[in-house]
Amino acid sequence: MKEKKIFITADGTPSLALDSVKETYHSRHGALQESRYVYIDKGLKYWDSNHPGSKFCSVFEMGFGTGLNALLAAEYATNHKQSLYFESVENDPLASSTHAELGYSSLFPDLENDAARMELLQEYWDTPQNFSSYFNYYKKNQDYFQWDSDRTFNVIFYDAFGAQAQSEMWEEKALTRAVEKLTPGGVWVSYCAKGSVRRTLQALGLIVERLPGPPGKREMLRASKEE
Ligand SMILES: C[S@@+](CC[C@H](N)C(=O)[O-])C[C@H]1O[C@@H](n2cnc3c(N)ncnc32)[C@H](O)[C@@H]1O
Repeated sequence: MKEKKIFITADGTPSLALDSVKETYHSRHGALQESRYVYIDKGLKYWDSNHPGSKFCSVFEMGFGTGLNALLAAEYATNHKQSLYFESVENDPLASSTHAELGYSSLFPDLENDAARMELLQEYWDTPQNFSSYFNYYKKNQDYFQWDSDRTFNVIFYDAFGAQAQSEMWEEKALTRAVEKLTPGGVWVSYCAKGSVRRTLQALGLIVERLPGPPGKREMLRASKEE
């Protein structure tokens, strides 16, 4: 397990810094703000708005990390009474003590099921779990390049570290794995705005948009598969 340090981002929510590769888990401009904007507003909510009346949505996240995106997705499912399946991979899971220190569970007081909320962030891996009647999840302690799923996904949260830290995650081989698992009409989103990623996703047949980024970032990418 690589050593991580907690720091407070500009919106007051904590995040982690991984000194060995000089990377942070979220934007220094606001962890909660960025995650909600990029993955929920521009990803999940966008897919939902394009599929009105849809009773079920499946989400894959590359990089479970702190579990912040999982909690946000659980909150979305609960608030919208949307049945959601959330699958994620992580090859360097956090210790329970780090999850406790981050205290993300307390950012979601409206998610009533305290035990399930805590459990989502604990070291229960590799078994599908039931969070509530709206939210089921499956955290796989696995490397993304080994990951496979018998499912396809309506929304993909692509949340790897930046290209300067792990260039392989932003190259064709890695992006192809995600694109192959996207349903027709499915949406891939990331905080990343790199030109080479945009061009690779276009070459893989997706319709790519450059969207205004969250506070502190000029742009982000969203890529959709034709219906
Ligand atoms: C930028 S952090 C974001 C994490 C998470 N989405 C969050 O909100 O905390 C990237 C995460 O991807 C994980 N990761 C990086 N490369 C991976 C790989 N090849 N397979 C699985 N997980 C990976 C890292 O360990 C880290 O937890």
